[in-house]
Amino acid sequence: MQLLAWDKRFSVGIREFDQHHKILFEMINSLIIAKEENSDPHVIKNTLGQLHMYTIFHFTAEESMMQYFNYDGLDEQVEEHAKLLKQVEDYTLRLERNEDLSVAELLEFLAGWLLDHTLGPDMLYGPFLRHRVE
Ligand SMILES: [Fe+2]
Repeated sequence: MQLLAWDKRFSVGIREFDQHHKILFEMINSLIIAKEENSDPHVIKNTLGQLHMYTIFHFTAEESMMQYFNYDGLDEQVEEHAKLLKQVEDYTLRLERNEDLSVAELLEFLAGWLLDHTLGPDMLYGPFLRHRVE
């Protein structure tokens, strides 16, 4: 599977969140590499755990700022964030139970979600929040 590369198309125009998104890209890349190197399942679990924690941090930061500036797309974002976290938690549980789970399927899902989310809903908050923050 191809590694993800962050480029200007993904910029939401807020330095802090671009930085977060870049880190998320790198974390998914670490998972892709771990999978390709046939790493121990523990490595995959740990990497997914780190991604999970960082995602919570990132979503909380985004939602706090949206709330602070009364962004009207907040509800949609909160809903989408919760859905994603739930899915990551489901995958984590399945990994912990050693269920037969396709890591490739997990990666396709995460990479697809991140690209769609960054290019979709996050692009909408960009112009709204940008000049309030800077
Ligand atoms: Fe985001």
